[in-house]
Amino acid sequence: MTARAESLKERVLQGPRPAHVGIIMDGNGRWAESKGLPRLEGHREGAESVRAITTAAREVGIQALTLYAFSTQNWGRPRGEVLGLMDLLRTFLLQEKRTLLENDIRLCAIGETHRLPRRVRKALEEVEEASAGGRSMTLTLALSYGGQEEIVCAARELARRAKEGELDPEAIDVATFQGALWSGSLPPLDLCIRTSGENRVSNFLLWHMAYAEIVVAKELWPDFREEAFFAALLEYRQRERRFGLTSAQIRERSR
Ligand code: FPP
Repeated sequence: MTARAESLKERVLQGPRPAHVGIIMDGNGRWAESKGLPRLEGHREGAESVRAITTAAREVGIQALTLYAFSTQNWGRPRGEVLGLMDLLRTFLLQEKRTLLENDIRLCAIGETHRLPRRVRKALEEVEEASAGGRSMTLTLALSYGGQEEIVCAARELARRAKEGELDPEAIDVATFQGALWSGSLPPLDLCIRTSGENRVSNFLLWHMAYAEIVVAKELWPDFREEAFFAALLEYRQRERRFGLTSAQIRERSR
């Protein structure tokens, strides 16, 4: 870690931190193209950022880290890129299993994981099972994930339960709906970071985005390392989270 990253980390540790951070890891392709490399090299370097940021998040006490690793829409990318990403994912899971266990990190996945190739599903299940007791941080990979698809799937499930007489439609409230989501057991999303300077949510954790603070970092994901991550956490600390209330009410409550 750079000296500047160490000093930012100290500042992060001295104050409140978000409990749940989600990251839209964008810019792998542009990183590679800017260097005249194949796009897959960008994803490979992006996997190094995943390692660095997971460790950094754990070190500063983030309870839940959710990474947008592969969207429902990403299936439409060229076949070679999709296969390359799947291989990368499998390698990452198998290589990181030990580190995750040593650091008491639980790994989970959300999304239509049944669409992943068998070899990836197997690796995922293996790491999910082995790390199920991890208590220091939950690392959730959004894989074959789409926020709209997740909400539709929850609505379908609730409609089915209502049709079968297990659920009174009038009893459906925010908590019931959230409980039917793939991400239903995740804590509220406090901070969503998007890299590469793009101001978009891109179908990521739409439900949880309700009161999330959004920080857009200029770095492309492969360049997004500890320094940029800690800077985003410090930017989050400057925000006033009002949850629909007034500033005066928030000040009153924090007295
Ligand atoms: C977006 O960059 C990134 C992805 C679609 C994939 C993210 C994958 C990784 C970070 C590596 C593997 C993941 C893990 C968990 C090990 P982009 O390709 O859309 O970039 P561009 O906008 O510059 O083209």
